[in-house]
Amino acid sequence: MTHDSRLTTKIKIAPSILSADFGRLAEEIRSVEESGCDIIHVDVMDGHFVPNLTIGPPVIRWARKATGLPLDVHLMIEDPLKSVADYRRAGADWITVHVEAAPDVRLALETIRQSGAKAGISLRPGTALEKIFPYLDLLDLVLIMTVEPGFGGQSFMPAMMEKVRTLRGRFKGLISVDGGVNQETAPVCIGAGADILVAGTAVFGQKDRRQAIEALRGAEVRP
Ligand code: DX5
Ligand code: ZN
Repeated sequence: MTHDSRLTTKIKIAPSILSADFGRLAEEIRSVEESGCDIIHVDVMDGHFVPNLTIGPPVIRWARKATGLPLDVHLMIEDPLKSVADYRRAGADWITVHVEAAPDVRLALETIRQSGAKAGISLRPGTALEKIFPYLDLLDLVLIMTVEPGFGGQSFMPAMMEKVRTLRGRFKGLISVDGGVNQETAPVCIGAGADILVAGTAVFGQKDRRQAIEALRGAEVRP
């Protein structure tokens, strides 16, 4: 994609349900869908790869029933290969694994693609971008972490934009940024070449979610 065509391509917004009210999950998902988001981002944490523990396939099945939007499932779990089929069956459209967590990254990505899902890879802030270069041909999506994975509500790491810029120069697929994305940091991500902005607090933490989503895209919204 050329730089010019990117300027006319709509930035996609993926609210992370980590910041949603899980007691009203279906309602929360419908609220962001009706507010104009493009993708639903689902953070799966196992208490090992990251200290936090969140949800698994049963909750994803409920999320699947609540929306027709793509479910972008971010697996922050050790040895994700074992669970790819379960997440796909539960309704994941996109499955992202961490390069640090998969003993055989290539096999994990091939298995995701064979399942019919789009394959993504993510990397911790401290992991060099070069670690994912051997897999670019197998990837639909790269998810650049702009916080240490594990929790919502952390501060954006601007130094990660160097990874986005470098990757943009050699990868034709989708580049997503995740962590600390808000109205102030979104333009930096878009300027560096991101296609998708994942945002938890900056969407679910706001009363007017339509306004929040459009503000991330950089658009003015009439009240
Ligand atoms: C962090 C998760 C993020 C998180 C983002 O490990 O991958 O998706 O929910 O939350 P905010 O937007 O609040 O930083
Ligand atoms: Zn995430």
